[in-house]
Amino acid sequence: MRILVVGGGAREHVIAETLSRSGEIYSVMKNRNPGIARLATEFLLHPETDVEKVRDFAVEKKIDLAVIGPESALEVGIVDVLAEAGIPAAGPNMAAARIETSKIFMREIMEQYKIPGRARYRVFGAGDGTEGMREFIEECGEVAVKPVGLTGGKGVKVMGTTEQLKDADEAIAFAREVLEKKIGGADKVVMEERLIGEEVTIQGFCDGTTVVTTPAAQDHPHAYEGDHGPITGGMGSYSQPDRLLPFLTQGDYDSAVTTMQATIDAMRKEGAPYHGILYGQFVLTKDGPKVVEFNARFGDPEAMNILPLLKGDFADICMRIAKGGLAEGDCGKETGSEIVDFAKKATVCKYVVPTGYGVKSIAGKPITVDEQAIRDLGARYYYSSVNETDEGILTTSSRSVGIVGFGDTLQEAEHMAEEALKFVSGEEIFVRHDIATPPSLQKRIRHMEEVRKG
Ligand code: GLY
Repeated sequence: MRILVVGGGAREHVIAETLSRSGEIYSVMKNRNPGIARLATEFLLHPETDVEKVRDFAVEKKIDLAVIGPESALEVGIVDVLAEAGIPAAGPNMAAARIETSKIFMREIMEQYKIPGRARYRVFGAGDGTEGMREFIEECGEVAVKPVGLTGGKGVKVMGTTEQLKDADEAIAFAREVLEKKIGGADKVVMEERLIGEEVTIQGFCDGTTVVTTPAAQDHPHAYEGDHGPITGGMGSYSQPDRLLPFLTQGDYDSAVTTMQATIDAMRKEGAPYHGILYGQFVLTKDGPKVVEFNARFGDPEAMNILPLLKGDFADICMRIAKGGLAEGDCGKETGSEIVDFAKKATVCKYVVPTGYGVKSIAGKPITVDEQAIRDLGARYYYSSVNETDEGILTTSSRSVGIVGFGDTLQEAEHMAEEALKFVSGEEIFVRHDIATPPSLQKRIRHMEEVRKG
């Protein structure tokens, strides 16, 4: 089978690695990602959002299946364009991708179908005064201010945090700025009650009807240790062998899955059946899991926690995502699906990023990964936004390489990730070493104990 992987980050590196067990890999990516380049029979260095060019490459290479990594390509209808050329894709079409590309659409669907896990929200337009915003803030206490469209995961600001929005005045000022500058591409802004609790990610394979969920993971969006500093695309993440997290109960997990399934059911009823990876970002509030956002693709870094553990044929799963049939098959008990199953291992992923990442990165510096030494430890490396050149591998302004450790416990996996990180060297790079360490996990457990006490 000839499989096209669209996108050139660490998420797409792990997608390509997992698919390479089942077929021949082709790639379209912006930068020359050395990991993907090596796995691919052929690759095209080109922006993934130029969907006609991607389609032409796919047709020329007689691609049987496309797997779409980034939301930017989904937003501009890559799946629709490939479908017109008769190429099935694991990824939602433009209408279904609105679950991520429009924060209003997602909330309206949840409201219309009374899907559990909704947060209180209001939408404000350019013509609205600030009075309604102030009233809503008073009603909620604190809010998050969210641009409507895509902002690379960095457009949301939360009130009550010194690093983001100190108070109501700053929240209103930011909401006005979003409206005036059309941040997120719309002349509307979402205000939502601030959700208090730990954040968790649950990703699901969706074939339009069935949702098969994967082990939960927790990302670390803040740039610096101790959960300080600017919000980034994610500095690292971890997952447990039992699919839960140290503070996530089976009941919480099941409630989140109920929300995801209800959302997929609603999308189908709305005539926008969802075929793709659904990324559920939840906050575990004292009233249970509530949706922060849905994304229309794998998480990055969370894909690196999940895909290395996937048993079986990922290409078959992706074809079923595209065409239906995830509920059929003959193996795997715990997922509820008969074709999807995961090895019972803990994983810890830590990203190596350029100095200044989240504010102003120092880019274009050499980075070296001793791949064999990392493999010998049993760990994995996934290249992200780096560029392989004649002078070696150079960093860009975004994340450089994700290192993943495995073990029977989180402690073992964290230790392996740290050992493997010793084999990454370069200029002007840094890592959040605190991810999944015992003090960091304890802090999260205590936080949830306090939240649940109310
Ligand atoms: N982990 C954040 C994201 O994938 O959006």
